[in-house]
Amino acid sequence: GRRPERPIPGTDYDPVAPNKLDAVTIPQGYDQNVVIRWGDPVVAGAPKFDFRNQTAAAQEKQWGYNNDFTALIPQDALGIRNLLVCNHEYTTELHMFPADQYDPKNPTEEQVKIAWAAHGLSVVQALRDPVRGGLKVVPSKYNRRITLNTVFEVRGPAAGSKYLKTSVDPEGRWVHGTQNNCSGGVTPWGTVLSGEENIHQYFANSATVTDPVAAARYKRYAIGAGESTRKWERFDKRWDVSKEPNESNRFGWIVEIDPNDPNSTPIKHTALGRLKHEGANIKITEDGRVAAYTGDDERFEYLYKYVSKGKFKKGTGAHIRRHNSALLDDGTLYVAKFTGDSPAEEIGTGKLPADGEFDGVGEWIPLAAGDKSFVDGMTAEEVYVFTRQAADKVGATKMDRPEDVEPNPVNGRIYAALTNNSDRGAAGKPGVSEVAPRKANKNGQVLELEENCGDGAATRFTWRLFLVCGDPKEADTYYGGYPKDKVSPISCPDNVTFDSRGNLWISTDGNATGNNDGLFSVPVAGPERGFVKQFLTVPAGAETCGPVVRDNLVLVAVQHPGEDAPSSAEPQSHWPDGGTSQPRASIVAVWKKGHFGLVGRIGER
Ligand code: FEO
Ligand code: CA
Ligand code: CA
Ligand code: CA
Repeated sequence: GRRPERPIPGTDYDPVAPNKLDAVTIPQGYDQNVVIRWGDPVVAGAPKFDFRNQTAAAQEKQWGYNNDFTALIPQDALGIRNLLVCNHEYTTELHMFPADQYDPKNPTEEQVKIAWAAHGLSVVQALRDPVRGGLKVVPSKYNRRITLNTVFEVRGPAAGSKYLKTSVDPEGRWVHGTQNNCSGGVTPWGTVLSGEENIHQYFANSATVTDPVAAARYKRYAIGAGESTRKWERFDKRWDVSKEPNESNRFGWIVEIDPNDPNSTPIKHTALGRLKHEGANIKITEDGRVAAYTGDDERFEYLYKYVSKGKFKKGTGAHIRRHNSALLDDGTLYVAKFTGDSPAEEIGTGKLPADGEFDGVGEWIPLAAGDKSFVDGMTAEEVYVFTRQAADKVGATKMDRPEDVEPNPVNGRIYAALTNNSDRGAAGKPGVSEVAPRKANKNGQVLELEENCGDGAATRFTWRLFLVCGDPKEADTYYGGYPKDKVSPISCPDNVTFDSRGNLWISTDGNATGNNDGLFSVPVAGPERGFVKQFLTVPAGAETCGPVVRDNLVLVAVQHPGEDAPSSAEPQSHWPDGGTSQPRASIVAVWKKGHFGLVGRIGER
């Protein structure tokens, strides 16, 4: 076979078999600990978690609900002391509250305020544990909760826009909070970017809007037409479009948090456009500017890139962080167009095209730069606030749900998870194309994109599908050309990250093969390119988020274990506390056994 004598470092472990266990399952020779759970203390004075006696005041000080993107920022050369930063994407009230306390038709004001406090982000200090191994959270001056009540500064070209003004913020420059923060990225200057994703579900009554231009904008973002599921509009009019028409325009941005400064005001960067951002990740261009890649996670949405006007400065001091953060406020926003190189009749056949790959060329189409619009009939302000409509007008390529997009720090290529698209090829919907070659795409694909000269400022690129996911026994799957009888099945890629050797790590959400979601590694170069292996699985119903891959530590955020339960009266998971407990989304650390994990390297024998 093709298996070399020494497997690729970083991916040399015995893969975990697909399973449906109510557990986090890891390879032989590895150990794990639960780092922090929903409701655990974050800031001083936080009470102990009490499922039956929750309050908004307690949740404001505790780890939020549904941890998603996770960053681990080292504070020393060995990575012993770290800042752990995490998104809390959304709430599921039927699981959060005891069934005898929660009436979905009539939530109490306190329950709604608990949900506001359970959204946002957390920052905690976390130390490698010298006794038990793994990672543990400690009290520190950095520990902080950011919620729907935290004030954010709006920056960039849409700050002060008429589309962002509300009765509470007549200047359009200050927003209370962030919501539906999904994935994200760590900037080269040590801050965290986070994507506001499915923001539409929190708003009510857009159907009352009669002006056709305004109505089309709400519709394009699927802002709630009638009463919302959570009924927040009963307790704060900002969630009611008929009373506060611009509040929904104040969400759907990339936000930036500076975890090094617990007193810093978080930022919404309007230059990166308003969409259902999965996250954003940065690459430095050949001439020292900042390129940020971001996906819009909905069926038939687009892939975007932003390139700054100014240049990046090295260093981590406060004034340098401020300079670099401001790079995200003045630049050019682009959207991607993909062209395949195989004849149309070879696409959608359930097989690879005759040239052996789904591949081709592409271009980044500019939408706006600073105050200048490149889109007919739209001002720059409108391009930034209603970015989806701008992308529609320039002929961008409709994708299969662009999730995490991230540059590989070793080979410089850009990798994007396209998670699935049940509507591809359905009646009245866009059909297959070489970049989205399967009808009713259940399993998703991973895109590899190489910009001209490897430069993040380039506007042309080549691309190929690196993985066409799903059961490797099926003819319509492709694992980078590696023999498919050796790989772990992967389905619904969601988040991507890289180890220090440039191996790609992928976490999944919604595994369509029927087994639990997990975390996978795959080399992108050498004889094992495409050799997908499963590093861990998460409990039934959970999504694998985070992830963080260090040389001696892996972190995953286990989100919504037991998600399909009808209510908390019938939990479908008891992870992580066991017994008859309610499931709690938690962060898990995994390391190699022995020496507290500080010596043993992940994926090395
Ligand atoms: Fe919140 Fe697109 O995943
Ligand atoms: Ca081709
Ligand atoms: Ca996601
Ligand atoms: Ca990522």
